[in-house]
Order: sequence, then C-alpha cells, then structure tokens
Amino acid sequence: MNKKGIILKGVVFVFFTAALWWLLGSSARMESSYYEVPRLNCDCPPGFKLNENNECIAQNLYMAYTTNNDPGVGGLKTALPEIRDGFSPQQIDLGRYLFFDPVLSKDGTISCATCHDPKKGFSDGLAASIGMNGHELTRSAPSLWNVGYLKLLFWDGRAKSLEEQMKGPLFSEEEMANTPENLLKTLNGIKNYRMLFAEAFPGREKDNEITLDEIYKAITAFEASLISLNSKYDRYAHGYPQALNEKEIEGLNVFRSFVARCAECHTPPLFTNQQIAVIGSPEPDGKPLDPGAEVPYNDTTMRGGFKVPSLRNIEKTAPYMHSGNFATLRETVQFYTDGRGHAVPENETLRVHWHIWEPELTGYELDRLVDFLKTLTDESFIPEEPASLPSGLSNTNHNS
Ligand code: HEC
Ligand code: HEC
Repeated sequence: MNKKGIILKGVVFVFFTAALWWLLGSSARMESSYYEVPRLNCDCPPGFKLNENNECIAQNLYMAYTTNNDPGVGGLKTALPEIRDGFSPQQIDLGRYLFFDPVLSKDGTISCATCHDPKKGFSDGLAASIGMNGHELTRSAPSLWNVGYLKLLFWDGRAKSLEEQMKGPLFSEEEMANTPENLLKTLNGIKNYRMLFAEAFPGREKDNEITLDEIYKAITAFEASLISLNSKYDRYAHGYPQALNEKEIEGLNVFRSFVARCAECHTPPLFTNQQIAVIGSPEPDGKPLDPGAEVPYNDTTMRGGFKVPSLRNIEKTAPYMHSGNFATLRETVQFYTDGRGHAVPENETLRVHWHIWEPELTGYELDRLVDFLKTLTDESFIPEEPASLPSGLSNTNHNS
C-alpha cells in the first residue's frame, strides 16, 4: 500500500468515526428531548418529613398537643385529627401531574384543577361548578386545603375516603365523563406516564400496566399534601399574641363564644367537627331544596343536612355554602343571626341543629367575625403547577 492509500484510509476512518460519534450523540439528544417530563421529586412537600422508608410524614406544631378537645371546645392548643400521610415523595409528585392533567377526562378537556384551581383556594369561584359540555352541577366545589384530615367527603358526606370520592368526578357523565377502562387505556398508552408510574410504584416491573389503585393512590397522596396550618391564627394559637390585632381577637372571641357558637361546629384547629348538621341555609332563587345528607344516609332527620366545612382559607373560596348562595363572608355570617330556620321553605320541616339559634349579633360583631375568618388564610405551601404535562396536553383548563 502506498502513502496515498494510507492517508486515504486514515481520512475515511476519521470520517466514519466522526459520523458514528455524531449519530450516537444525536440519538442521545433525541433520548434527552424525550424526557420532557422531569423525574419525580425525591423530597417531600413542605409540611412533611421523609422517614427512612421513603414515606412523607406530616410535621406541624399541633403535633405537640395531645389534648383532643380537652381544654374545652375552641381551645387553642388542641390536637388535629389523624391525617392521611405516609405516601412517598414520588407518589405525591405523580399525583400532582395527574391532578392538573385533563387527559383524565373522557375528551381531554377537564382536569381536577378545572374545578379545584389552586389560584382560587382549590375551588373555582362559581356557585355551581361547570362539568362536561358546559353542564352545570348542583353544588359548589369545596376547597381541597387540609382535605387529608377529613373523614367525610362531599357536602353530603357520602364518601368516606379520598379514593372513593374521586371516582365520583372521574366517572360521572356530568363531570369528567370517563370510564375505568378508558382511563386505563389512555394512561397506559402514554409512555411518559408508564415511566412515571414505574418510578412512583417501584415494587412492580417496568412494563406492568398502570392500575386504577395506583391512580387513586397517587391523586390521594397529592390531595393529602395540601396543608394550610401557618395562618395568622395559627401563630396566635401557638403562643404569639401579637399575631392577631385587636379587632381580629374580638372576632375570635365572638366565634368561640356560647352566644355565636361557631366553634361548636367549626371546631379549631381544623375548623370543622366533621359532623353533618342541618342549618337551613337557603338555595338560590328558584332552586328546590337540596336534600343533602338525607339521600346517602337514607335518614329523613338529616334532610337538608351538610358536612360542616372547614373554614381554612375561607377568604379565597367565595361564593359560600353548598349552593354558593352567599357572595361574601359578611352575608354568610349574617345568615346565622337572621333567625333560626328563617330560610327554610314553608312546606319543609327541617330538624335544624340546636346550636343554630338567635344569637342577635350586632353589625359590629359580624364585621369582627369576618376579620377573624380572614386570619385563617395561609397558602404558603401552595404546590407548583406543572409547566408541562406528561400527556402533552396543556394545563390551562380552569373554570372561571
Ligand atoms: C366539574 C367540576 C369538578 C371536577 C372536574 C372535579 N371536582 Fe371535585 N368537586 C366538585 C364539586 C361540585 C364537589 C362537591 C360535590 C358534592 O358535594 O356533591 C367536589 C368535591 C370534591 C371533594 C370533596 C371535598 C370535601 O371537602 O368534601 C374532593 C376531595 C374533590 N372534589 C376532589 C376532586 C378530584 C381529585 C378531582 C379529579 C379527579 C375532582 N375533584 C374533579 C367539582 C369538581
Ligand atoms: C350547627 C353547626 C354550625 C354552627 C353552630 C355554625 N356553622 Fe357554619 N356551617 C355549618 C354547615 C353545616 C355549613 C354548610 C351548610 C351549607 O352548605 O348549606 C356551614 C357553612 C359555613 C360557612 C361557609 C363555608 C363554605 O365553605 O362555603 C361559613 C363561612 C360559616 N359556616 C361560618 C360560621 C360562623 C361564623 C358561625 C357562627 C356564627 C357558624 N358558621 C356556625 C355548620 C355550622
């Protein structure tokens, strides 16, 4: 072989090596552009601490208090009920993607966040939520803050767990209108989701199908991570008296008083005793009485009964009550002093709860109650909305 031949061979060799290098590099680039979805978070959300089993365990100052309702109803240093915790950071993060992803609905138009928008206190600002094809639901969307502490879900308390609750919106024709079969088919058909589920549920083989229980578990994990316990009120309760001003303290005192009796039902620190109560709140003009808990409990004494809602972040979730009938907090607190049963339709005999009576609160006291309710606002742990979704759909479907 002559010198020229060697040089030519050398050039060809270098050329091929470079070409091979480039090809390998570009397939790696393709691979990396495929990972549009970041890996799942390995840290717990704020308010939770990771234990050695990769579980997020709730952490807050209320855990220092062992007394449940012992210093008296409305006591400041009262323990919280048990929370749903122990999910892994990855499960919580996967739940966050699912929560914002409209791919969970039949036609990819509605996500959980459509009606539970973090920017609106995880509600939607509507008196009655709007579901599939513009269908108007009969009730307003409750906030989801601190929902991991709740034993009864829905306004009428018809679900006993978050897993059970979510089957309502997912599979109701009027809401997300999906079916279990179609939901599984859709998610299993999306490679990003298959990877993320494999990461969040590492016990299974990578190629295993996504299951319904995994979907429910991830969304539950995310919902139960929505903690709001760092309000001005909380700082006051934990022993910092300057956290509330004079008017707010006056409001707190009205709230806890046996005249107003708010704290009998809206018991701190969750601001609900988690019971069903008939208070006789009105329906919007022209709408029939909502039978509430009478239906799921099959009990006529519960007619018009609703779950006592938590009042945390209440400032953010107007309009108020199951019916969204009251536009402002001032109107809502006014309801309690307008006379027991004043809004009950004439042809109805509701068993109005004994703590609903005639407290004859003054305008001044009602204003202070509103001042106090606004001290329950705390959105410091608001989760980040995903910038892009594993399904490739956009996260812009919010009711408003
Ligand atoms: C079309 C609007 C809409 C969509 C979509 C929707 N919800 Fe709701 N959600 C509501 C309404 C309205 C209620 C109250 C219904 C009732 O009480 O009868 C509710 C109730 C709830 C509750 C009970 C809260 C409590 O305090 O009792 C939870 C939890 C919840 N939704 C979570 C979800 C999750 C998770 C998704 C997605 C899988 C979802 N929602 C999708 C409107 C919606
Ligand atoms: C007998 C129990 C009871 C008492 C006492 C009570 N509430 Fe309520 N509260 C409820 C129930 C039940 C609802 C939901 C009713 C509905 O949706 O029709 C509610 C709803 C509310 C709401 C609207 C919550 C939302 O998410 O829309 C506010 C605000 C409120 N109460 C404040 C007060 C204040 C202030 C007092 C004292 C003046 C008070 N409550 C006394 C049981 C009670």
